[in-house]
Amino acid sequence: MTVLEAEGLTKVYTSHGHVATKALSNFSLTVQQGEFVGIMGPSGSGKTTLLNLLATIDQPTAGKVRVDGVETTRLRGSQLALFRRRKLGFVFQDFNLLDTLTIAENIALPLVLDERDPRDIKDAVRRVAAELGIEGILEKYPYEVSGGQQQRAAAARAIVHEPVVLLADEPTGNLDSKAARGLMETFAHLNETRGTTIVMVTHDPFAASFCRRIVFIRDGQRHSELHRGESRQLFFQRILDALSLIGGESGELAPSRL
Ligand SMILES: Nc1ncnc2c1ncn2[C@@H]1O[C@H](COP(=O)(O)OP(=O)(O)O)[C@@H](O)[C@H]1O
Ligand SMILES: [Mg+2]
Repeated sequence: MTVLEAEGLTKVYTSHGHVATKALSNFSLTVQQGEFVGIMGPSGSGKTTLLNLLATIDQPTAGKVRVDGVETTRLRGSQLALFRRRKLGFVFQDFNLLDTLTIAENIALPLVLDERDPRDIKDAVRRVAAELGIEGILEKYPYEVSGGQQQRAAAARAIVHEPVVLLADEPTGNLDSKAARGLMETFAHLNETRGTTIVMVTHDPFAASFCRRIVFIRDGQRHSELHRGESRQLFFQRILDALSLIGGESGELAPSRL
């Protein structure tokens, strides 16, 4: 079953009405239920632009996005806000937890906003925290826990309402390599055991090697695609090879990680 479909997405940014940047050009992507897709490409290639369009955070200049059968690019105002809150989950590079709320309260947010029964909320938060291995920090505040734990809390908040797709933009960008590995193992676990559909933007080949499929983007256009076989280590190597072909920042960085 298709859960996410982008068709002919084009985004032109205009500043002061004069200078225009075509960040994305006629980009199409179809994601099936249960997939774990990575979006990779050099810095400035349009990855964040694409994710923001999929996430309904921004509107395309042309093209459409359909999520769970609904054309989100047609939704506006409160309809859009409601759709986003119920159907989508987000994880960003900088965690985005609210400092004045405990980890438990942060995770509960999507359900609280949806006015769910407080007992159901408590159960759901405990369940998802246990699954992500953060049940021990639920009563702490974000500044009292590590970056890796904060990002796992953000992931818990992003899935507590069982969205149709989890969207992540450079989720390991602010984590050290150990925490990055932990987060990617968590994503893979959610994908494999819960069947959570994930679309993740990353320029990190190691993080990308946890995906089942990688779509490469260059200069705002779809460039190529890789599918993972059984071995993650082998996939990592194939990703490095693909990046060195595409060039740009990530390609140049890749050899030093060997
Ligand atoms: N709000 C914006 N206004 C103008 N140009 C932008 C804006 N956001 C991104 N861009 C430009 O669009 C291109 C793609 O950016 P982005 O999607 O952030 O790339 P990536 O995430 O792959 O690094 C870049 O040239 C960037 O400078
Ligand atoms: Mg980006």
